[in-house]
Amino acid sequence: MDWNTLEMTCKACTNCGLCEKRHHVVFGVGNPNADVMFVGEGPGEQEDLQGEPFVGAAGKLLDDMLSIIDLSRESNCYIANIVKCRPPHNRDPLETEQDACIGYLQNQIALVKPKILVCLGRISAMRLIREDYRITREHGQWVEKDGLWMTAIYHPSALLRDVTKRPETFDDLLSIREKIKKLGAQM
Ligand code: URA
Repeated sequence: MDWNTLEMTCKACTNCGLCEKRHHVVFGVGNPNADVMFVGEGPGEQEDLQGEPFVGAAGKLLDDMLSIIDLSRESNCYIANIVKCRPPHNRDPLETEQDACIGYLQNQIALVKPKILVCLGRISAMRLIREDYRITREHGQWVEKDGLWMTAIYHPSALLRDVTKRPETFDDLLSIREKIKKLGAQM
């Protein structure tokens, strides 16, 4: 499937109940040819209203985090979510909702073909790295799956709630920058 067909199919999706209350399907943003991809959990209120991932308060922080390592949604990374429609009251997406939606992300990953994939938060890491992933213990560690280097960092919303997690996240960002250099990823 090509990118446009994938995007159009996703934007017309009625695979789960989240389609009923949505204002927008939040497909993703950034450079679909990027070597670095970030995956969050699911759209919040602002993302649902604007149709773009990470545009609320957490998104502003994510943009600042990206700029520390010379990445930006405008040029050299791609940003998507596990589920493309907003779960009510920002609750965690249910397993059934993730199951209904994950194919879109799998296709996005297959088409972007990133060298590095960074999970933003626990939900994304548990879905993409390992079901029993423990973000507090394992954030910043790297695993390689079929040639794709994967890691997870704290979700920007968690960093807004708890600033004591920020120094560790800074180290994780530097580790991502190192990995980009080591793999000769396109900047
Ligand atoms: N949180 C997420 O996980 N994704 C978004 O797009 C916005 C907030």
